[in-house]
Amino acid sequence: MTSRTLTLSNGAGSIPTVGLGTWTVFGELGSDEQVEAAACAAIDAGYRHIDCAWNYGTQKGIGRGLETKIKEGVIKREDMFITSKLWDTHHNPVLVMEELKDTLKQLRTEYIDMFLIHWPTALKDQDFSGDVIAPKNDDGSIAWACYPLEDVWKEMEACVKAGLAKNIGISNFNKKQSERIFNSSTIKPSNMQIEVSPYFSNSRLIEYCKEKGMVVTAYAPLGAPLRPWREAGEPSAFEDKVLLDIAKSKGRSVAQIVIRYHLQTGIVVIPKSITPSRIQENINVYDFELSGDEMKQIKGLDRNLRVYKEPITIGHQEYPFDDPY
Ligand SMILES: NC(=O)c1ccc[n+]([C@@H]2O[C@H](COP(=O)([O-])OP(=O)(O)OC[C@H]3O[C@@H](n4cnc5c(N)ncnc54)[C@H](OP(=O)(O)O)[C@@H]3O)[C@@H](O)[C@H]2O)c1
Repeated sequence: MTSRTLTLSNGAGSIPTVGLGTWTVFGELGSDEQVEAAACAAIDAGYRHIDCAWNYGTQKGIGRGLETKIKEGVIKREDMFITSKLWDTHHNPVLVMEELKDTLKQLRTEYIDMFLIHWPTALKDQDFSGDVIAPKNDDGSIAWACYPLEDVWKEMEACVKAGLAKNIGISNFNKKQSERIFNSSTIKPSNMQIEVSPYFSNSRLIEYCKEKGMVVTAYAPLGAPLRPWREAGEPSAFEDKVLLDIAKSKGRSVAQIVIRYHLQTGIVVIPKSITPSRIQENINVYDFELSGDEMKQIKGLDRNLRVYKEPITIGHQEYPFDDPY
């Protein structure tokens, strides 16, 4: 059966294979109270992994949820695996640890389990008020910046040495950018968070990560079905005949089939939901198995459909998605 955790070969400990995603642009995660309720529902449903990021604006609510469940005695802090990510406006090496300290305050914790560089693309320095996530130049264009990724990574390493992060990793890096980190680091990245869905297998990058000993975390594992920028004619996993047929034959939901598929390929998934019944459904995936033939059918759905293209940094010198992987 598929494991509930994967060992972090270059870091400390292990990462639970299903975590709760906490970002949305869709407006459902409005208030801190709603986010707190989602975190509490997830912990009650058995989640021990929550995926956060400084720019999501949801960390305060997650922190409240964690505190509530610790006070209730449902969990201890050490039972949880909390990820956060360094936002693009804080790549300046002097801001890296400062951002993490701000995150720790929001999450009401003394350390996080995984700290990732969110994107390789820096934006102009900003403070920690959260008022400006994507700064603009006078002409309305996005204000890019560039700090050598190797220098940013040195500060990520400093966060581990200071005891503020147990593990460090990267997100949305391509192979060449990852190699630069591997070649210049003393603490190697132990986790790569990238988009992976039934329509976007990202298989070459996954293979590379596995070779380097990085656990892969799949974001948008369900294909972000409600994304407002979904174009007419783009497929949805929830309407896919192959997935619907497998779901029917197994007596499971499409989301469970997709999540189970990812787990059986040896990666971690962080489906986002604010709906308690779906939060529960998305982690009830450890008691059934997809056959070799079912895995092959789902693998066959790949059509290289990346949905997170990060338009605000297209053209940036570190834009990651011009390379094939
Ligand atoms: N590193 C990065 O750059 C990056 C980029 C994007 C995302 N992420 C992370 O990855 C997480 C997941 O990605 P995502 O939120 O874009 O996409 P996703 O998890 O593929 O899809 C989330 C959407 O699916 C719906 N959903 C969840 N479970 C469902 C179920 N069982 N049945 C039907 N619908 C279901 C949710 O609706 P409800 O909430 O209404 O239930 C939500 O609208 C994010 O929340 C974030 O933590 C990271």
